[in-house]
Amino acid sequence: MNLPKISTQKDYEKAYLYSLENPESFWASIAEHFVWKRKWDSVLEYNWLKPETKWFEGGKLNITENCLDRHLKTKGDQVAIIWEPNDPKDEALHITYKELHRRVSKFANVLKSYNVEKGDRVCIYMPMILELTVAVLACARIGAVHSVVFAGFSSKALAARINDASCKLLLTTDGSYRGNKITPLKDIADEALKFCPTIEKTIVYKRTGQDVNWGGNDVWWHEAIKNADDFCKAEVMEAEDMLFILYTSGSTGKPKGMVHTCGGYMVYTAYTFQNVFQYEEGDVYWCSADIGWITGHSYIVYGPLSSGATTVMFEGVPSYPDYGRFWGICEKHKVNQFYTAPTAIRALAKHPIDLVNKHDLSQLKTLGTVGEPINEEAWRWYNKHVGKGNCPIVDTWWQTETGGILISSLAGVTRQKKTYATLPMIGVSPILLDNKGGEIKTKEAEGILAIKQPWPSIARTIYGNHKRYKDVYFTAYEGLYFPGDGALRDENGNYRITGRVDDVVIVSGHNLGTAPIENAINEHEAVVESAVVGFQHDVKGNALYAYVILYDRFDASENLLQTIRNKVTETIGPIAKPDKIQFVSSLPKTRSGKIMRRILRKIATNEISNLGDTSTLLNPDVVQEIIDKRL
Ligand code: WT7
Repeated sequence: MNLPKISTQKDYEKAYLYSLENPESFWASIAEHFVWKRKWDSVLEYNWLKPETKWFEGGKLNITENCLDRHLKTKGDQVAIIWEPNDPKDEALHITYKELHRRVSKFANVLKSYNVEKGDRVCIYMPMILELTVAVLACARIGAVHSVVFAGFSSKALAARINDASCKLLLTTDGSYRGNKITPLKDIADEALKFCPTIEKTIVYKRTGQDVNWGGNDVWWHEAIKNADDFCKAEVMEAEDMLFILYTSGSTGKPKGMVHTCGGYMVYTAYTFQNVFQYEEGDVYWCSADIGWITGHSYIVYGPLSSGATTVMFEGVPSYPDYGRFWGICEKHKVNQFYTAPTAIRALAKHPIDLVNKHDLSQLKTLGTVGEPINEEAWRWYNKHVGKGNCPIVDTWWQTETGGILISSLAGVTRQKKTYATLPMIGVSPILLDNKGGEIKTKEAEGILAIKQPWPSIARTIYGNHKRYKDVYFTAYEGLYFPGDGALRDENGNYRITGRVDDVVIVSGHNLGTAPIENAINEHEAVVESAVVGFQHDVKGNALYAYVILYDRFDASENLLQTIRNKVTETIGPIAKPDKIQFVSSLPKTRSGKIMRRILRKIATNEISNLGDTSTLLNPDVVQEIIDKRL
């Protein structure tokens, strides 16, 4: 399904101005290319003081008819998904649109047979196997709301997410393969389910064949689908009905369940997919993210499939069996567009260049990055060694909350500038604010990023907590969407994202709130209090530095450090483990009791010559102690 393509810088400039002045007619002209069961009554209704955003109200659709059914006539035999297994010696799968349609319909009938109805929440805790995509689309088929939880999360994190959305069903696997590691997902799920009263059934896909404990509410996936029908009518959804919930961490301990809805999300993800990557019929596109994150939702599953593309899913990791795996996959499947994270690029760039050069990468046309700012060195390496100097690089800035890419160049169409995400997408209106919240009107500027008007895939609320949605995103600057990032703007209007301006740290492209990590550390019996900040790291972009106060009766030991780290792994997952833990006698606090993270951040990055104003501190003496013992 081909949407109108922007194909020159001029086109972009024209369409951009038009889209901001006439958002309704612009987005209606894009939405018309999709399959609707009923046309919308109004394109956009919004009030960001409330806040409320509604796109295509009155419209009825099912996103899976756009991702599957509509392609059957013209490209039923085209490959929809190439699935690459963890072990390169195992066979890759090539699943056609016809076959994907059949598998999704079948599994949708299984969900129905367990009484899952429109609006019910289904938690999906699965590794990157084909059935993960089948599960996601099967939910959407019957109007159930999927909540995918990244399979690297701990049992506690899983339980918290299941309970927050009162999920009815859990979909998981016996285990998962990632590199030479096997993770017992079913055991982790069992542990979580001790605390999840709303789960009625667990459907388990057999991936590893390892031993699992079996309970009365467990069902094997292969048995459940045995007698299920291959045909399942798509549920009729309102444009603003919930499509999915996806959790992201925030500045309090509780994860935020971002709610995305059907119509606007579909239109925006397909439009940005086609235009940013300049995908053309017949191309093979690969996004190396996990479907447990928004990147996978929007740019492995929904954007590519609603466009009728061929999308690659990879089960494994970039380091297995060696650090050339990504390039091996690009060669093997003749990948045309490749989308990954700066942290992966930095990790791979540390290894012999032969691991890249021995692969034929001549099919690559577009490279992409996402998740954090890309530093110049990584950009150059990616451009030179992977792109051979002739693939445009799209540096895409967006968030779980935005649903789709908001700032990026369009591959080979609009000008790129290294380390800059560059220009806003059609329909997106970024501005920069000063510390007082006033708009900075000069062309060249640095400030806090905000967005002025709605785009179709903005998250509509935080599940079960609209007040928090308002507080986090719409209160700092009245009437504007506040993403939490700072940015620079050059004289040509290009944006460069400089990083978070709140208590979120991006570690290896994962968005981690420091508060939940502190909470996890504080749960340790030896810990009085802690503060976690980010510091620059070669490979991960940022890593975590924890300052910890111990009760007097505990001695700082290597063993204690390890048990504190374990606490974080258990509560959140290994990605949140601090690289450095320093024991301190107290933390620098303001008179109102707020930890001065600004100072701790500077100490963690060794910028101790200018700590700024410390006069408002309650306990200025502690600063020197922390500096003296810094790691
Ligand atoms: C935060 C959102 C969007 C999918 C992956 C992360 C940072 C994201 C970029 C980029 C600089 C970036 C921002 C943002 N970020 N992309 N191209 N350049 N920073 O989604 O977990 O919701 O995290 O990631 O700080 O706010 P997320």
